[in-house]
Amino acid sequence: MEDSGRTTVRKTVRSMAITAVAVMVILECAAAAEQLHKVGSRGWIPDYNYTDWLNQRHEHFYVGDWLLFVFDKHSYNVLEVNETNYENCNDQGFIKNITRGGRDVVQLTEARPYYFLSSGGYCWGGMKVAINVEDLAPAPAPASTKNVSPSNILSRQMIVLIAFCVAMAWFVLFL
Ligand SMILES: *[C@@H]1O[C@H](CO)[C@@H](O)[C@H](O)[C@H]1NC(C)=O
Ligand SMILES: *[C@@H]1O[C@H](CO)[C@@H](O)[C@H](O)[C@H]1NC(C)=O
Ligand SMILES: *[C@@H]1O[C@H](CO)[C@@H](O)[C@H](O)[C@H]1NC(C)=O
Repeated sequence: MEDSGRTTVRKTVRSMAITAVAVMVILECAAAAEQLHKVGSRGWIPDYNYTDWLNQRHEHFYVGDWLLFVFDKHSYNVLEVNETNYENCNDQGFIKNITRGGRDVVQLTEARPYYFLSSGGYCWGGMKVAINVEDLAPAPAPASTKNVSPSNILSRQMIVLIAFCVAMAWFVLFL
């Protein structure tokens, strides 16, 4: 009786461990597919050059990625603006207000440049950032673009990544 009890415990521990590993693999794969980028090495602060920050990092931003702005919401905010208003530090007629609690995220859903700034005059001191978002898929051939929406195009990288994740999850779950 004692033996079968011990076996049950061992089986439970084993299946819990396998589940934990499976969850980790799935989370890792999800993280690899979609990245969260924290803006600025010290967050979203005044008197900081975000252009220099970007140039130092050589980071790529892909469609589906997220930006994280960490800031003091009592002093600063995060507004998405167009290029002209980014250049001129103009917060009038902004596109989107990202500001919520001071740890705020925004998803980059299109392959285009995104422009963000803080109002209250802080933009003039450098509190603005321009993020160029790239498509994961290579540009489609012009001739065949008619009925193909960008969301239907899965890049090779993505297919390889997904196949790898499925294989790993399968391996871990049914080992
Ligand atoms: C940028 O936004 C402002 C305010 O909404 C608008 O007046 C201006 O025409 C826009 N510029 C461009 C290039 O879209
Ligand atoms: C942006 O949204 C925040 C939170 O809802 C609000 O407190 C703030 O006034 C808004 N800012 C602008 C410029 O609309
Ligand atoms: C950031 O630094 C670059 C040079 O590295 C300069 O051209 C740019 O004007 C600076 N931006 C701000 C907002 O000071």
